[in-house]
Amino acid sequence: MQSKIKKAIFPIAGLGSRFLPATKTLAKEMLIVLDRPILEWAVIEASMSGIEEMIFVTSSKKNSIIEHFNRSLELENLLKKKKKNNQISSVQSQSELGKFTYVIQDEPKGLGHAVWCAKRFIEKNENFVVMLPDDIILSKKPVIAQMLKIHEKTSGGSVLALEKVSKKEVFKYGVIDFTKKKDNFYQIKNLVEKPHPSKAPSNLTVVGRYILNYKVFDLLEKQKKGHGNEIQLTDSLISLIEKPGLYGLEFDGNRYDCGNKLGFIEANVNFGLKDKNISKNLRNLLRKI
Ligand code: UTP
Repeated sequence: MQSKIKKAIFPIAGLGSRFLPATKTLAKEMLIVLDRPILEWAVIEASMSGIEEMIFVTSSKKNSIIEHFNRSLELENLLKKKKKNNQISSVQSQSELGKFTYVIQDEPKGLGHAVWCAKRFIEKNENFVVMLPDDIILSKKPVIAQMLKIHEKTSGGSVLALEKVSKKEVFKYGVIDFTKKKDNFYQIKNLVEKPHPSKAPSNLTVVGRYILNYKVFDLLEKQKKGHGNEIQLTDSLISLIEKPGLYGLEFDGNRYDCGNKLGFIEANVNFGLKDKNISKNLRNLLRKI
């Protein structure tokens, strides 16, 4: 069965302060993993999962993102002239990944507020995907496609991507309390943001991939500022538990958190090890360190 969910919101208006000074002028989402920006990896995942419209919630300082997903005839002509024909398709493919829509979040008021900014691009009662491109995932089947399959079983419920971490790491994440439905599919009973390990209900944590019921916009509209004096998405997700239900999928794949320096380097190493042109030399290089 083909999924009816065709739109994904990418909240990318954050400051990226953990990467200063690089992010003084460069958008965090444009930092490169292997040979393309972090954001492009997430857009490829969405496109391969059948998502047709990519809605970027961005800031006015991140124009390079718009340019990256547009075609550049000037560059294409230059590559043609220099007979770099192999590279031409690599710079054309971005604009073919879907339809791109942009909305400006004028101030970083929180992830919940960023999602809310995209409301006018979503039809009433249309469910949609949210992707945080900081998380890039290597998997056989794109994670959004795995989640859409589960979503079909939930009668309009929301689905969160989940990952098990060691108990001492839970304080960095949103952590769920659950009833197990089947194998790696969970019904969420509660969601706790960044708990102390001794108070965490489990070690299943929320990763930056969501399928959300339209109802979340009504909740975000009324949502008061929470942690960090920002409008948090998690606070509204908790209200989805009751109806139409909040579910979780422990996805198949390896996630790298490119929002911090160590995760970003780990992503580059792992994507490099998957690249047939450099993997052997990279492996040798790593052995020497
Ligand atoms: P982060 O918590 O990683 O914040 O946001 P950040 O600003 O990107 O990075 P640091 O913490 O300062 O280093 C998670 C996601 O939510 C988006 C970010 O762009 C990122 O994709 N976001 C966050 C917004 O779009 N708007 C906001 O107001 C806050």
